[in-house]
Amino acid sequence: MPSYFAIFGKTPALSAAELFAVFEREKIEAKPARVSAAGMIFETSRSDLARPDLGRSDLDFWSQLGGAVKAGEIIWKGKPNAQSELQAFLNRDLRERVPAGRIEFGISNYPLESGTHQGLTSPRGQTLIGAALKKILAADGRSVRRVTSREKNLSAVTINKNKLLGPGVEYCLFSDRAMTFVGITSWVQDYEEFAFREFTRPRADAIAGLVPVKLARMLLNLAAVPRDSTILDPFCGSGTIAAEALALGQKQVIASDLEERAIKETRENIRWTLTDLQRLSKQTLKVPVRILQSPAEEIDRALAGERVDAIVTEPYLGPPLRGRERTDELQRTLNELQKIYEKSFAAFARLLAPGSPVVFIFPIYKKGAAELSINDLTGIENAGFRPDPLLPERFRHTPGFALTARGGIIYSRPDQLVHREILRFRRI
Ligand SMILES: C[S@@+](CC[C@H](N)C(=O)[O-])C[C@H]1O[C@@H](n2cnc3c(N)ncnc32)[C@H](O)[C@@H]1O
Repeated sequence: MPSYFAIFGKTPALSAAELFAVFEREKIEAKPARVSAAGMIFETSRSDLARPDLGRSDLDFWSQLGGAVKAGEIIWKGKPNAQSELQAFLNRDLRERVPAGRIEFGISNYPLESGTHQGLTSPRGQTLIGAALKKILAADGRSVRRVTSREKNLSAVTINKNKLLGPGVEYCLFSDRAMTFVGITSWVQDYEEFAFREFTRPRADAIAGLVPVKLARMLLNLAAVPRDSTILDPFCGSGTIAAEALALGQKQVIASDLEERAIKETRENIRWTLTDLQRLSKQTLKVPVRILQSPAEEIDRALAGERVDAIVTEPYLGPPLRGRERTDELQRTLNELQKIYEKSFAAFARLLAPGSPVVFIFPIYKKGAAELSINDLTGIENAGFRPDPLLPERFRHTPGFALTARGGIIYSRPDQLVHREILRFRRI
């Protein structure tokens, strides 16, 4: 069975959860061999995951992800002390992959547990391997260049710039106490497209709060629903999640917000996104996005009995914080938010069939070293929902994964006063 690897982005627990959700949506039976903050190695009977990008109109497996930065196939595994075998393997493999002309290659390394950053997969080992490979190949008269960078590992930018997806080669080395794996990188994230949508869309209301585009993509994937299902964002703000749903190829999208300003911004951003996607796929996209103005607490009425298949939303997280608020003020805001959320879930219950998902963000307020959040989920459960853990139990305690006690995944930057906790629920 082929094995693959994915290297995770800045929020590894979320990247892992996204990958599990996409396995579910694509009905891919995947057996994780290693899950760590660096990434995941898994086996699957699917043999086509190493193929490069299939193009925009048909996103390939990897390009649909927001949380993976590199991926490829595992091509060798051995005991961590099998250093000469590894060296011989790389020497042979590189000659086969680049039979003639100049050889350009790079090596990145990812320890799978702490304390195993030694031997050939340590930075020093990596340098030694690279140097030895270069020497052997040069002695054979091959012109060879090893691509290095100031970063610890080669970034997607460096890989693209040096054409290491072909004709050049990048090897990723992984190791823990039991095993060393070698992967060959066959895909890197389309960081330019994400950045373009993030920074070029016409409306970005930073004060009302904006979900980063990659996070929007991950939230959508966590819903794990097919492309032709209807997705609703009832707190759409400037429409980032709805727009990203289009980029992901969703065919039915509904966006709604309480404020007229948000509706206007969403309309503008959606129009811009459709034009942008047209530029990329060179075909006219006619995805009717419905944009409604309604309080989320009454969204079922606004949809007049219509059903949706999934709700993916970053709700109102309270007024922007300055850091000077007293604990009792913060607590009061959280109590108000809890009421809005509970009423909204009661409306969601009337829109969703049993089993349908709600991917929802809860605020965590930072007050010095303390954290305040909405702890009581019984109102939401009583509205007809059960929490649906984002990660299988055995991976929740993976070092480097930021999870809350109830299994929510934290998405944050250290300087933020409001951290996001991502939770998924299912309609009972
Ligand atoms: C954090 S923003 C969402 C931002 C959005 N994810 C984006 O990236 O553009 C929350 C939005 O909820 C809206 N809102 C506040 N209370 C609401 C309610 N009760 N029902 C629906 N929308 C509400 C606000 O107008 C605001 O646009």
